[in-house]
Amino acid sequence: MPVVPAPAIPQHVAIVMDGNGRWAAGHGRIRTVGHRVGGATVRAAIEFARQRGLRVLTLYAFSQENWSRPEAEVRVLMRLFARAFRQEVAALHAQQVRLRFIGARTRLRPALLQAMEAAEALTVDNTALEVVIAIDYGGQWDICQAAQRCADDGIPVSPEAVTARLSTRDLPDVDLLIRTGGERRLSNFLLWQAAYAELYFTDILWPAFDHAAFEAALRWFASRERRFGAVPCAGSSTAIARPAARAARA
Ligand code: IPE
Ligand code: IPE
Ligand code: MG
Repeated sequence: MPVVPAPAIPQHVAIVMDGNGRWAAGHGRIRTVGHRVGGATVRAAIEFARQRGLRVLTLYAFSQENWSRPEAEVRVLMRLFARAFRQEVAALHAQQVRLRFIGARTRLRPALLQAMEAAEALTVDNTALEVVIAIDYGGQWDICQAAQRCADDGIPVSPEAVTARLSTRDLPDVDLLIRTGGERRLSNFLLWQAAYAELYFTDILWPAFDHAAFEAALRWFASRERRFGAVPCAGSSTAIARPAARAARA
């Protein structure tokens, strides 16, 4: 299977990691087993992203709407997150991976917050790959908090002013957004940042999303013609530049 040539690699890939519960049910197990196996898939996806030279990998781990799940499932997830962040950070640091988190931090337990802050502090200077974990995240929340900051700063709301105040403010826009698990929706993920992302939906359930599946998504991305609202020049297929405001941050 040919690998995607380097110039066609997206800078920023974002993934809605969906399908843990259904994967577990398909294996005769309870939902939380799917979350545990999904954790191993996260490790593999980060490794793949690093090997393939992505700049940013943003992973949707827990949405603001996920608080409405049964309390027991939420508790297991939060415990899994805290344990994973603590256990994985040394290996990621050794690979020069920077870890950071986006989302509201108001409802997270102190032990989890502590693990997140420690991971961010340890890896802050790493440059091989940036892994952004969206936890207690909502795209609408992100846009609202950015608009509120505009107001607090006394700055008129504009696309540039909002972009500069999003949780992802120093990151390039999403180039490729992948959703596993068969649903074709964004579920309140990076609504603003994915304005011009290529959207890739696969029926593969997250715990089964392996390197070959990730490679297939990259190959599909490489075949896309990105126009950003412009018209392709005669004879050229993919040479259209991003709009200036977006390119400036890329
Ligand atoms: C995604 O898998 C993980 C989280 C939302 C935390 P799900 O738990 O949504 O699995 P399905 O979609 O029910 O199969
Ligand atoms: C989206 O999956 C959120 C995460 C993967 C963290 P959900 O399973 O919560 O999405 P819906 O409810 O099917 O839209
Ligand atoms: Mg789901």
